Amino acid sequence: MPELNIKLSKRVQRIKPSVTLALTAKARALREQGKDVIPLTAGEPDFETPAVVRKAAIAEIEKGGKAGRYTAAAGLPELLTAVAKKFERDNGLKYATDQCIVSCGAKHSIFNAIASVVDDGDEVIVPAPYWVSYPEMLNFLGAKPVIVDTSTTGFVLTPEALKRAITPRTRAIFVNTPSNPTGTVWNEAQQRAIADVLKGTDIVVISDEIYEKLVYEGTHVSFAAVSPDAYARTVTINGVAKAYAMTGWRIGYSGGPKNIIQAMIALQSHSTSNPTTLSQLAALTALQKDPEELPQWRECYRKRRDMVVEAMNAMPGVKCAKPGGAFYVFPDVRGWVGKRAGDVLLSDDAKIGEALLAQALVAVVPGGEFGAPGFLRLSYAVSDESIAKAMGNIRDFANKLR
Ligand SMILES: Cc1ncc(COP(=O)(O)O)c(C=O)c1O
Repeated sequence: MPELNIKLSKRVQRIKPSVTLALTAKARALREQGKDVIPLTAGEPDFETPAVVRKAAIAEIEKGGKAGRYTAAAGLPELLTAVAKKFERDNGLKYATDQCIVSCGAKHSIFNAIASVVDDGDEVIVPAPYWVSYPEMLNFLGAKPVIVDTSTTGFVLTPEALKRAITPRTRAIFVNTPSNPTGTVWNEAQQRAIADVLKGTDIVVISDEIYEKLVYEGTHVSFAAVSPDAYARTVTINGVAKAYAMTGWRIGYSGGPKNIIQAMIALQSHSTSNPTTLSQLAALTALQKDPEELPQWRECYRKRRDMVVEAMNAMPGVKCAKPGGAFYVFPDVRGWVGKRAGDVLLSDDAKIGEALLAQALVAVVPGGEFGAPGFLRLSYAVSDESIAKAMGNIRDFANKLR
């Protein structure tokens, strides 16, 4: 075959591949060598999609017809109605169905939303630690991520820090509560303080609420619900992946200002068309039935969170906040930086991640990936036994550092 000098777009070359995936591949390779690696890297529930949802999907396949057909680009009308009802029931947000769109996962919803509001060179505020895809989407789109560190303010964006970050080029800001990677929940007062700073600007808020159902203390508050002004500037993003253990079904949804949602629909109509119809039908059952497994899962996650936080805080050189939601903890391991694990110098969190994998057989994600060097992200969406074992291995590792 002739070697062509195929040029990739500048746009796509601005994206870097995910280190999380590289780490996961390394962990897999170690497992294939027979090593008992414990992955605390997962971003997905370790539970099965509820039976009521799976049964409804099977029935739709057997029925034939609709499940195998296109739907409107924005999604099935009955699902859009269920989404609007969900926003009103759970979040106190009134969206008409033409203010809603269903997409191929919340990631796709977020991409559609941000792509509908930014132009080349526009600035978007990204509170750090951040979900890795926010800056990468912005890089792809030619917008500039303006990273604002929140690690010294309990992982909460303060109004002062926000004011300092806003410029005439600011077009949007990401809000993510409960947060990936820290699990932090922003309460109503904290979100209202942000909304107050935004008043009088035309800055759009992309409020990623995918972990809404996984809150262990207090309640989830939608950014758009804190004031009429916040409602008018916010695209609220959610999905079925984390709430209903439906990561593979790929359904996300959004509600927001009509002109942004209609732009998102236009973009979607020329990229993916409708999300998979069968998955939409499954999501419809999940939203309508709010499966009974959810409270049990939440209790399970809460217990695991407590196990991990307690174990991490008992280790030398570690400070671990107890987050209010999601299924991650984000310990500060700056006390390990500069120490030696055997003959490995732990010069930063990436080295710590590598050493934990090689020596403690536990896979975690270094905080630098999320814009927070010196921290680690540990997912507790794994069994209690795996958590107990991982904590034992990490403790032995920590005790041997010098
Ligand atoms: C903060 C955050 N937003 C969005 C998503 C994407 O969710 P989905 O699987 O529905 O695309 C994830 C998944 O990891 C996430 O952690």
